[in-house]
Amino acid sequence: MHSQARIPNGIHNAIDYERLAPQAMDAGRHAYVAGGCGWDATLAANRAAFGRWSIVPRLLRDVRGGHTRLMLGGQQLAHPFLLAPVAHQRLAHPDAEIATARAAEATATCLVASTLSSVPLEAIAQAGGSAAPRWFQLYLQPERAHTLALLARAEGAGYQAIVLTLDASIQLPSRSALAAGFAMPADCTPANLAGFPPAPASALPPGASRIFQGAMRHAPTWDDLAWLLAATRLPVWVKGVLSPQDARQLQGAGVAGIVVSNHGGRSLDGAPASLAQLPAVRAAVGSSYPLLLDGGIRSGQDAFKALALGADAVLIGRLQMYALAAAGALGVAHMLTLLVEELHACMAQAGCAALADITPGALLPCPPAAAA
Ligand SMILES: Cc1cc2nc3c(=O)[nH]c(=O)nc-3n(C[C@H](O)[C@H](O)[C@H](O)COP(=O)(O)O)c2cc1C
Repeated sequence: MHSQARIPNGIHNAIDYERLAPQAMDAGRHAYVAGGCGWDATLAANRAAFGRWSIVPRLLRDVRGGHTRLMLGGQQLAHPFLLAPVAHQRLAHPDAEIATARAAEATATCLVASTLSSVPLEAIAQAGGSAAPRWFQLYLQPERAHTLALLARAEGAGYQAIVLTLDASIQLPSRSALAAGFAMPADCTPANLAGFPPAPASALPPGASRIFQGAMRHAPTWDDLAWLLAATRLPVWVKGVLSPQDARQLQGAGVAGIVVSNHGGRSLDGAPASLAQLPAVRAAVGSSYPLLLDGGIRSGQDAFKALALGADAVLIGRLQMYALAAAGALGVAHMLTLLVEELHACMAQAGCAALADITPGALLPCPPAAAA
């Protein structure tokens, strides 16, 4: 552990970790983390969507009993921020996900460990203690035996839910990462997949599509989802949902909850901002079905807007990498503490003493000219 880690000067808000990230990471790694895909249209849309709403201050309300506790999927959380699954964390810091797990414990934050973590899922679980639930993000493997092995390891290590990511069968590269000449370093390759030989490359027949018959050959289908639901005793969430129809069908299939997400703009460039889809997805699944959102959350105010528009909680993606790069576990814990405090301040000024008080009526659409 790097015992000399210090909070850098100039960090007053969680978003400052993003502002200072170019100083904490080399240019190629920063471009890989910060980038979206294609022309970064969806990446930009995620942020812009928050600028379309303002928060209405309310006066004279007594918020002295205020708190941010919630029940999510039957589990008690101290606050509505989760650490999103973010792969390859050794890109940001030598302690990688071990540092993130320590920060999660220090701040009682639910951590969602990526299938593609730089350290094994068991080591993350061991570093994370028991202050908050810990979930495992699953990418279905081409071989079902390999998926079953990951599930057994996650269950054995005490993970309490599976988050199945379904929006990343095809990921176009980030143009800025390509331009910066980024290549994944050898010490960042996914530790959890070390024992799995890569699927043998098979030549495509003449006229076949590199996408339909190539990249999508092993992409999950509704049958695979049904198989997974029967293969684990843990609740299964699905991440990467933007369509209200998909949301309703997933709910009907027995999925425990869904994450409205476009993979931080890294999957389909041209997909809508996740915040923009949230109200329609909430309407499709009803008021009590567990719903999370990620994509573009950089402040407590952003989280407030997502909660007002129908999310039960939000996940934090890139900010954890930036804070990790700046100051390891201390940085991630500090970033989360700032987010929680920003949410407290926002709730207090909007007259909300509990998350349930944050309703659509707390927001006003900004006039188009003022939209960011
Ligand atoms: C560097 C990087 C790696 C990611 N790795 C994964 C992953 O392994 N699994 C996954 O489901 N999502 C992954 N994501 C997407 C995040 O979980 C999340 O959806 C996204 O970062 C949220 O947007 P934000 O970065 O604006 O907060 C990754 C995102 C980034 C930036």
